[in-house]
Amino acid sequence: MQIVTSLEELRAARRLRPAPLGLVPTMGYLHSGHISLVQRARAESESVAASIFVNPTQFGPTEDLAKYPRNLEGDLNLLEAAGTDLVWLPTPAQMYPTGYQTWVEVDGLASPLEGAMRPGHFRGVTTVVAKLFNAFQPQRAYFGQKDAQQAAVICRMARDLDFPVEIVICPTLREADGLAMSSRNSYLNTDERQAAPVLFRSLNAARAAYYAGERNAEKLRQIMTDTLIAEPLARLQYVSCADYDSLQELQEINGKILLSMAVYIGKTRLIDNFVLEN
Ligand code: PAF
Repeated sequence: MQIVTSLEELRAARRLRPAPLGLVPTMGYLHSGHISLVQRARAESESVAASIFVNPTQFGPTEDLAKYPRNLEGDLNLLEAAGTDLVWLPTPAQMYPTGYQTWVEVDGLASPLEGAMRPGHFRGVTTVVAKLFNAFQPQRAYFGQKDAQQAAVICRMARDLDFPVEIVICPTLREADGLAMSSRNSYLNTDERQAAPVLFRSLNAARAAYYAGERNAEKLRQIMTDTLIAEPLARLQYVSCADYDSLQELQEINGKILLSMAVYIGKTRLIDNFVLEN
């Protein structure tokens, strides 16, 4: 596995890798969810690349950039074991040198849900992902369904800006009790960790109602809310039952939907979602 830091080294290394190249962009502190993306890339691409970069521009001023968990050595071991060929470790100064002033912004899809709660977040994500696509020139790029809106926004960006890259969205990986895997789970103390599967339970409750025939979106939002507020350590930020394509809140359901939520467990903000269709 080749590890590079400068953009020049990356470009030189990239030129020597046979196509198609599958890219897994990450912020490090890798878990099995990330590794499942690498494995998928390995199974379907000639070359597999990853980036590790805790992107400062996607964190708000009150968010957890400074204490975002890091474990570079562990990450590199996991990437190597999963068959990665090339890893880029850019620095913030390289990505955003003094005088940097160009941003990539998706309008509609980036506005509701996470976009409403985390102003500027998706602008940071789409900007860095566009830069990663330019640097790696991948034929495929892999993202997790756990960040459903991020995946939708990146698909939109790739289409709108004519990036010749196929965006592959991979299923959410879960712990045995249903908690969606996330680097942020490492912030949870023992009690909080026990409480955290309430997100999964609330999604399951809404899904059960949906499959029993419920098509009133407000009822599904209420079912998720009722489950979440019954957990004393949980503080609900939003629940949503939205149209899958537009991410707009629904009243009556008659197509593919995204059930999603953001919930604080203690000081840790967790998100999760299910996609449902008939
Ligand atoms: O999902 C993430 O880890 C990040 O948002 C991404 C896509 C690597 C961009 O920094």
